Amino acid sequence: MSVLGLARPELLAMAPYSSARMEAGGGDIWLNANESPWNPIALGRINRYPEPQPPQLLAALGEVYGVDPSRLFVGRGSDEPIDLLTRAFCRAGQDSVLIAPPTFGMYAVAAQVQGAKVRTVPLRAEHGFAFDVDAVFAAVDANTRIVYACTPNNPTGNSTDPAVLLDLAERLRDRALLVVDEAYIEFSMRDSLATRAGAPDNLVVLRTLSKAHGLAGVRIGTAIAAPEVIGLLRRIMAPYPLPEPSIDAAMKALSWEARQLTRARIAQVRSERERLRAALPGCAGVREVLPSDANFLAVRFDDPERRYAQLAAAGIIVRKLMKYPGLADALRISIGTTDENSAVLAALDTRREAA
Ligand SMILES: Cc1ncc(COP(=O)(O)O)c(C=O)c1O
Repeated sequence: MSVLGLARPELLAMAPYSSARMEAGGGDIWLNANESPWNPIALGRINRYPEPQPPQLLAALGEVYGVDPSRLFVGRGSDEPIDLLTRAFCRAGQDSVLIAPPTFGMYAVAAQVQGAKVRTVPLRAEHGFAFDVDAVFAAVDANTRIVYACTPNNPTGNSTDPAVLLDLAERLRDRALLVVDEAYIEFSMRDSLATRAGAPDNLVVLRTLSKAHGLAGVRIGTAIAAPEVIGLLRRIMAPYPLPEPSIDAAMKALSWEARQLTRARIAQVRSERERLRAALPGCAGVREVLPSDANFLAVRFDDPERRYAQLAAAGIIVRKLMKYPGLADALRISIGTTDENSAVLAALDTRREAA
């Protein structure tokens, strides 16, 4: 069976929207899309609708991820492919997604928006929040359409061996998609599964420019998948998902020079992460710092509300994790610049507490 056997059949039968940009052939005078002929400000060709899936951006991302551009869907952050995959594969009121909490919140939100059920197989808190691959496999039933594995996982920071996930994808073939969210993979020493996406055809990998590439404000995320899955996402995508200024910014951030800088910054984040991980256990109220392969640390405190307020009083905003299962005492601290990280350590300095 093709992976499309798992998709909503009515979407395969539906005639997709055909935008003016898609239908346009070559020509110099553009009178096909009711655009303004004048560009109001000097910011690229913004009076024109953008390419829905710009070939130059697909080529650049394909080079970065080591895959053929026909295997890529580019959206507004990886949030958009999460939403589109849910809509493409889950029938409202019937199908379900399987998530491993504590994990990224959008998998469940996208499912709820679509009317799909959310089933959970918790990470093994007592084993460093390990992904419970056998329990996940056992929990997949006839209505499971998507299984999510986030590696490194947000908010715990630990990652899963890609060989284990590849094996799970093979076992789930013809039964469910395995969506491996690698938003933070650049900060990890693990190999990405990007080049394996689509083989087996139910394996989808998500990547983003929001984290290591520093483009959270630009909103560019990518699904890497079998060409049939990519074709389906393109059938149901918004007519023009990517704003022209975002396409331009992404192209610049993917230039050779910018990628060298990105590489240096990833190394800096890793070394700052280890500096904080070593120093935080000596700080006020810190009980435990969870090991992390990402650009953040989950930290257990004696009194997380108090420590949150203490950091806030120093002008430092971190994320509360107390609502997540197994993390009732934890805060998540993103790795900042050296000065910002030193400010965290200073705000939680025990000498300050004693004074
Ligand atoms: C695990 C994970 N996946 C995906 C995203 C969404 O990223 P974006 O939509 O910016 O690509 C985030 C954002 O925090 C995340 O933590």
